[in-house]
Amino acid sequence: MANKKDKDPSIIASLDIGTSKIACVIGRATEDQNLEILGAGSALSEGVKKCTIINIEEASKVIARAIEEAELMAGQEIDSVYVGISGIHTDGINTKSVVAINNKNREVTQEEVKRAIDIAIERVTPSDREVLHVIPQQYVIDDQDGIKNPIGMNGTKLGAYVRVITANYTVIQNTIKAVSKAGVDINDFILGTIGEAELLLSPEERDLGVVLIDIGAGTTEVVGYYNDSLMFNGALNIGGMEITADISSIYKLTLQQSEKIKKMYGHAWPSAVSETETIEVQTVNKRIKTIKRRDLAEVINARVEEIFESVRKMLTSSGMYDFANAGAVLTGGTALLQGIDQVAEEILDMPCRIAFVENVGGIADAVKSPIYAKAVGILYYPVKKGNIILQSQKPKISGTLEKLKEFFNNFFFGE
Ligand SMILES: Nc1ncnc2c1ncn2[C@@H]1O[C@H](COP(=O)(O)OP(=O)(O)OP(=O)(O)O)[C@@H](O)[C@H]1O
Ligand SMILES: [Mg+2]
Repeated sequence: MANKKDKDPSIIASLDIGTSKIACVIGRATEDQNLEILGAGSALSEGVKKCTIINIEEASKVIARAIEEAELMAGQEIDSVYVGISGIHTDGINTKSVVAINNKNREVTQEEVKRAIDIAIERVTPSDREVLHVIPQQYVIDDQDGIKNPIGMNGTKLGAYVRVITANYTVIQNTIKAVSKAGVDINDFILGTIGEAELLLSPEERDLGVVLIDIGAGTTEVVGYYNDSLMFNGALNIGGMEITADISSIYKLTLQQSEKIKKMYGHAWPSAVSETETIEVQTVNKRIKTIKRRDLAEVINARVEEIFESVRKMLTSSGMYDFANAGAVLTGGTALLQGIDQVAEEILDMPCRIAFVENVGGIADAVKSPIYAKAVGILYYPVKKGNIILQSQKPKISGTLEKLKEFFNNFFFGE
């Protein structure tokens, strides 16, 4: 293993704290802003409920295990990680502000942009929340809208439209404790789904309007883009775990058995399954139970429909639904469920595709599954935003100030 002192700063790592597993991915940021995968590891979650840490001690052990596995594969030790933040305690709000351009030349400088962003954030961030990202959507100078980079342009008024993404302060604090107990520093926090969006969505989809849906074990998270800007993020406390629990309670099987038959024989689109096909499973009292595969699909279908109905409701009430012209992209482990794209198309009434991790080099096969999409996305995001050279060894708690720095460094679109 490499000595800590001769560490290559281009080698970075991520942590995805999920309901069912904690994943760590180690990669190298290349000079042409791409990501090479060096190693990946995962361990079954403990001390985590609905992707939120509820037991620091237990969670830190699992984090350490996932990191160790990834280090072994990479043949490389790491001492810091980018940590994904997920779940219903995250939030996002679109906000706007207007400031006067009152310098001598009436030209927009960083000063006016910073003032506009400051005002926009102040309006929407309560004190018990941590700002994760400040993402500009567009600028308006006098009556001219749709401006991606206003610096150097002339006018009298500058308007800024931004999305501010926040997370619950206590959840962040507990995450910091668990990660540092596992022996690594935190480079930054990243909303996992925007990393996935960077990785899995094409620029054309983001421009035309698209939603990305990550269905994990305990949560379903959604982000929406339009005009190449992040317009929406949201989360629901429902996922693959609920499908497994339904199978368990209807067929009186253990959760482990139910999980196994869901993965092996499960289908979300009943009419695609033969009416005569059966599965034999042993119940807890050692009896053999025969289950019709079509019936199993009906059970799964009911819950999957409920998930997409809730997603549709969330998209409709936020106004994002009408902007998803390119449809929906599915990821997360539950995206592996057969027939899920058909249910998504039917309920959301838009084209849907399942995304696998592509666009990365190195041992890409190790992270191809949608189960790893978030951990890879969390690593891909700082690479694409050109943040890697700024990496410091000290933990950076993602305060508003840090986020503004990120914003100035990276967020003038089209540059
Ligand atoms: N082949 C499969 N068919 C059906 N479901 C599957 C399959 N493979 C994995 N899953 C489900 O995917 C879920 C795990 O996905 P993932 O690893 O994305 O979740 P997580 O990140 O741990 O959870 P969350 O994101 O909700 O916190 C489990 O519910 C599991 O049953
Ligand atoms: Mg997940």
